[in-house]
Amino acid sequence: MVSSRAKKVTTQTLLKMKQSGEKIAMLTAYDYSLWARLVDGAGIDVILVGDSASNVMAGNETTVPITLDQMIYHAQCVINGVDRALVVVDMPFGSYQGDSKTALDSAIRIMKESGGHAVKLEGGAEVCESVKRIVEAGIPVMGHLGLTPQSIYKFGTYSVRAKEEAEAARLIEDSKALEEAGCFSVVFEKIPSELAKQASESLTIPTIGIGAGPDCDGQVLVLHDMLGITKDFSPRFLRRYADLGGAAEAAVSQYVADVRSQDFPNEEERY
Ligand code: KIV
Repeated sequence: MVSSRAKKVTTQTLLKMKQSGEKIAMLTAYDYSLWARLVDGAGIDVILVGDSASNVMAGNETTVPITLDQMIYHAQCVINGVDRALVVVDMPFGSYQGDSKTALDSAIRIMKESGGHAVKLEGGAEVCESVKRIVEAGIPVMGHLGLTPQSIYKFGTYSVRAKEEAEAARLIEDSKALEEAGCFSVVFEKIPSELAKQASESLTIPTIGIGAGPDCDGQVLVLHDMLGITKDFSPRFLRRYADLGGAAEAAVSQYVADVRSQDFPNEEERY
């Protein structure tokens, strides 16, 4: 019997999309009922359970505090809502930087306990040993270069990375090293478009950009930013597709007014 379910996206699907020039659409999600189900149903290719959950869901200033247990919880919720998309789970700060055995153990926990399909980690040459070890264990790894928010206290700002020649050259080298180590894809965050174009053309694996221009093989945004739920974050690269924050606030204000005026519940809304 032929299954009526949509064909699942795999790392091979993404590779073929790069080869055929078809752009990859990726968004974050952190829970089941609102977002994973809707985002998957709307046809997204990749869902990232980003450690941006630390900012968006928990209200922390940075991604540094979120724990491995919390990432696994968010990933479990997302997996429960997904039929088609490839689900990539961020490895949180502290779960892979120590040594490659720690990195492997963390990646295995994510895969076993959440049911995610792949992991993502930040960094270049310095994480390649860990990437190799995780990939050898059968776990697909996505890299992340450019602005790497887990290192915010080293950079000091969230400004565009790799504008200088030396840092740009290092990014190209790091992206090649990640490809050689076995990454199936790499995210470029907040780097000049020209550099992202050059790196994307020099790699065989797909690149996914956020603030990295149109020539990456795909694009990613934080869902709450593009839906207008987070209000105080407006970088140049962000396109807002809705004002759900405004709509939710208006709905809640109306509810408060209706309760206070005893308009709610009305005759039909009681037993
Ligand atoms: O955590 C996240 O949302 C990310 C994206 C910005 C790529 O890493």
